[in-house]
Amino acid sequence: MTLDLTIILPTLNERDNLAPLVERIEEALGGEGWEVLVVDDNSADGTAEEARRMARADSRIRVIQRIGRRGLSSAAIEGFCATAAPFVAVMDADHQHDPALLVPMLEAVNSGEADVAVASRFAEGASTAEWAQPEREKLSGVANTLARKLTGVDLTDPMSGYFLLRTETALALVPRLSGIGFKILLDLLSTSEKPLRVKDIPMIFAARRAGESKLDRAIAVDFLAGLYDKAFGNIIPTRFALFGTVGALGVGVHLAILYLCLFLVGAHFAWGQAIATLGAMTFNFWLNNFLTYRDRRLETAGKLLRGWASFVVACSVGAVANVAIAALLFERGVPSLLAALVGIAIGSVWNYALSSRFVWAR
Ligand code: GDD
Ligand code: MN
Repeated sequence: MTLDLTIILPTLNERDNLAPLVERIEEALGGEGWEVLVVDDNSADGTAEEARRMARADSRIRVIQRIGRRGLSSAAIEGFCATAAPFVAVMDADHQHDPALLVPMLEAVNSGEADVAVASRFAEGASTAEWAQPEREKLSGVANTLARKLTGVDLTDPMSGYFLLRTETALALVPRLSGIGFKILLDLLSTSEKPLRVKDIPMIFAARRAGESKLDRAIAVDFLAGLYDKAFGNIIPTRFALFGTVGALGVGVHLAILYLCLFLVGAHFAWGQAIATLGAMTFNFWLNNFLTYRDRRLETAGKLLRGWASFVVACSVGAVANVAIAALLFERGVPSLLAALVGIAIGSVWNYALSSRFVWAR
């Protein structure tokens, strides 16, 4: 019996969903011709251990455990690169995707009818009735419309996490994929020079079985970051752009706090400046933790406190570099505005380098 299909299951805390899902896959596909490849990002709940336990008893199951890396897209890419099967599918591990659809999806691609089969939540006959949050459904609709406009690919659900294609098609695109965020399908479709022919297969998007969604928060950021990365990621890296944007917002926060201290409380300038600096640093720490480093987010109180303290130290080093360099340039006759801007730019790079190394270290 030959291996036809690898089903990539990206996982983050899906331990209890794995075994029942493999049973359902077997019901759908029969006993042979497929394998399941679990790509786990070092889940705290022991998903990788569970997958290994299953793999020992069943040679159709394989495991990749990644340490120090996170992300649904990059997990799928890792899977594409680690399969020998001619067809590959990506599917959520939480039972929201019905394994029975693998049959028509494989048929559509195998017969040459389509290059990619996409299980769609929005095609005729599909439903998302069991979605927990209506606002998310709305958000998803907006993102889909935007995605279709930008990629020019006509399909009903470009953000679907459930699709199947030839492994060679995926592998040919891998070197040019951005790998950021969760919209791997969109990435594949928009990267391909020759438009991929898509077949939509309507699906009923079921409720998650166990555990909770990891994509709820900052889902819009993820989407926009992905678009940015495609357009400008080669010029200024996405993470640095986010860091810089947060920094610019921090300046606004700084000025607002300073204003409050000076004019409402009547504080001395030095006190106001000190409080505003600390306030802006705290704001920047929080927002960077939420957006810029959402894939390495610090969550427990202890880690947050330690992270905040090291962020303050990192920023202070950056501030010293900023002032020193700006002053030096100014002394050498560089106009003050330019000297200040260069100082800020160098200070930001410092802050960025230090905080990704020490605050949000992998
Ligand atoms: N390896 C890995 N790394 N897996 C991840 C990560 C990650 O960082 N984040 C999520 N996953 C896994 C989950 O364990 C699950 O198997 C699958 O990816 C989908 O994650 P969910 O957290 O269940 O996503 P969702 O249900 O909120 O989002 C669904 O809708 C999105 C579009 O709105 C999914 O179908 C997404 O694929 C889809 O893009
Ligand atoms: Mn889910």
